[in-house]
Amino acid sequence: MTIDAPSLSDAEIRRLVERLDRPIVLVGMMGVGKSTVGRKLAALLHLNFCDADDAIEEAAQMTVSEIFERFGEPYFRDGERRVIARLIDGGPAVIATGGGAFVQDDTRELILERGVAVWLDADVDTLLDRVRRKDTRPLLRDGDPREIVTRLKAERESAYAKAPIHVSSSGGPHGDTVTRIVQELDKWL
Ligand code: S3P
Repeated sequence: MTIDAPSLSDAEIRRLVERLDRPIVLVGMMGVGKSTVGRKLAALLHLNFCDADDAIEEAAQMTVSEIFERFGEPYFRDGERRVIARLIDGGPAVIATGGGAFVQDDTRELILERGVAVWLDADVDTLLDRVRRKDTRPLLRDGDPREIVTRLKAERESAYAKAPIHVSSSGGPHGDTVTRIVQELDKWL
């Protein structure tokens, strides 16, 4: 994997990771790039990466869409909280969460208490551009994606804003976003 983070020396990265005693948890809207950015960030910091949605699918032996269809959203949220709790127990790592996870009070409290939450943010056009590449998101199936993304973003923003770190990922390469996350983590730690 190419890691485009020229402003960070190996020594700086080592010092940062030595101070990290908890997982970095990426939160924010669907399509913002949590998994792509998370993978790059983990590779740069030499940490494990986990995607909470993938872990939920593995535990349930079903896709996220199937879980929504067969059991409904509250059931999914409950499994999501339990899976995130298990991933957080694993210590320093990079965890990408699904867009609704940090909006649930219990899950947000868990993440705020035991991880360092990073809110990845982007404008609606960027989000739409990215969500259009995949049609597996159950919340986008019944309606106009622009209307749904705009509404969810507005409804969720106050929850996302509770993350101690906020980084914008609109436009520009994901490598730049990774660099900004590391700079913000360095200030926060
Ligand atoms: C959701 C986002 C999805 C997935 C589920 C619900 C949401 O994850 O967890 O479809 O509520 O925004 P991504 O943010 O990875 O798309």
